[in-house]
Amino acid sequence: MIERLSSKSEVRAAVAAARRDGKRVGFVPTMGALHAGHLSLVQAACARTDIVVASIFVNPTQFGPGEDFDAYPRRIEADIELLAADGVEIAFTPSAAEMYGDGAAVTVEPGPLASRWEGEVRPGHFTGVATVVTKLLSVVRPDIAFFGEKDYQQLQIVKRVVADLDLGCQVVGCPTVRDEDGLALSSRNAYLTAEERHLALALPAALEAAEQAAAWGERSADVLVALMRDTVAERAGGALALDYAAVVDPETLEPLERVDHRARALIAGRLGSTRLIDNCSITVTDREPNGA
Ligand code: PAJ
Repeated sequence: MIERLSSKSEVRAAVAAARRDGKRVGFVPTMGALHAGHLSLVQAACARTDIVVASIFVNPTQFGPGEDFDAYPRRIEADIELLAADGVEIAFTPSAAEMYGDGAAVTVEPGPLASRWEGEVRPGHFTGVATVVTKLLSVVRPDIAFFGEKDYQQLQIVKRVVADLDLGCQVVGCPTVRDEDGLALSSRNAYLTAEERHLALALPAALEAAEQAAAWGERSADVLVALMRDTVAERAGGALALDYAAVVDPETLEPLERVDHRARALIAGRLGSTRLIDNCSITVTDREPNGA
């Protein structure tokens, strides 16, 4: 049975009781409009811990002016049913007033990891994310918290925040769940028209082009980035306005010149008024281009 709790004190008490029973606590923070990507985090949490808490909170402080906070899909009843069916025991559904009391003035600055990519396109976004994640982790105090690689920069920032502020939980990253055609699942896909949904496939296609080229021995990040840009231009023309395409160090997120070992390809762009992001891991091998 799932318990829906809206106050921090109720969640603290329920988790404390579970911990007194010797249970390991898993936590999956979300903004709702749940899909199979979110549920994969829940399944990972159920496999590794004894009691799973999931939060649903559309966090106003991580949306900039003119972004989609008001339009963001909200379907809390359906979400709770999905969480219950997958074994979540506590759904934490706070209001904004409950999360941010009167006079709230302290924020968590996530540092250099937040300066590029999403941080540049969405100023203040990661301060909002780091602050709300710190608050949620302080309320739930899980043993393990689960985040998706879909939001790769967010995952790296959360790991840094947890380490630097001694929040004392393990952070586990889970692989991106995709539709059959390769599009990464996202609550924002609901905004896409059928035509835009098709053009959006340019993003995973660009990542795959870079991944393939690296697997065949291409080590120049510039060449890989050019391949990503060309793929988007071919597949979506001007309809998909790229914010960035990059090949970066998987931990520092700094751009690389050469891919000598492991890297991450990041891509983000706008289709009409919808922003989409995606990424994948890049591994170079020593194969000769002729396949020898
Ligand atoms: P939200 O976008 O709802 O995502 C919640 C979690 O689900 C994040 O860890 C995200 O990376 C993961 N996720 C989303 N799509 C996924 C996919 N296709 N495959 C795997 N995981 C996926 O990210 C947020 O909410 C917020 O910023 C939050 C961390 C809750 C703070 O407000």
